[in-house]
Amino acid sequence: MAKVLFVCLGNICRSPMAEAVFRHKVAEAGLAGRIEIDSAGTGDWHTGEPPHEGTRTILRQNQIDYSGMRARQVRQSDFHEHRYIITMDASNTKNVMKWAPGSHDAEVRQLLDFIPERRGEDVPDPYYTGNFQEVYEMVDEACGLLLAYIRTKEDM
Ligand code: 4NP
Repeated sequence: MAKVLFVCLGNICRSPMAEAVFRHKVAEAGLAGRIEIDSAGTGDWHTGEPPHEGTRTILRQNQIDYSGMRARQVRQSDFHEHRYIITMDASNTKNVMKWAPGSHDAEVRQLLDFIPERRGEDVPDPYYTGNFQEVYEMVDEACGLLLAYIRTKEDM
């Protein structure tokens, strides 16, 4: 089982969107039993809350299920439980490393690094920009490429 954790700041806008979109693609590929997906935030302000209305709306418009999703904060055990930790921006990457134990096997990568022409870019935070459509398009493209990357690495 390959486990993937998406990480953003609040775990209500970007990482839940990526979690739901990626789970949808994994199911479409017939790999639901082989890849497990979760998301978390480096901040704890929204713990227990469902995804932001903007994220829920764009997921609904694209017929992507988000039922049962609730925000939580990153924890140290995430580094042992997940093989891939995928962050939304450089600040998430820096902050998530505060939970990293001395030794772990998790591969920590930024989502847009999977889109060759967007390498090094941050997923803009729609909590501040209000532009959930732009984020959805980036997340959708990058998740497709992430899945291809994982399938190659895991020989799936
Ligand atoms: P997210 O967006 O990291 O994409 O979930 C944010 C959500 C909430 C806050 C910041 C960013 N906040 O400050 O509450």
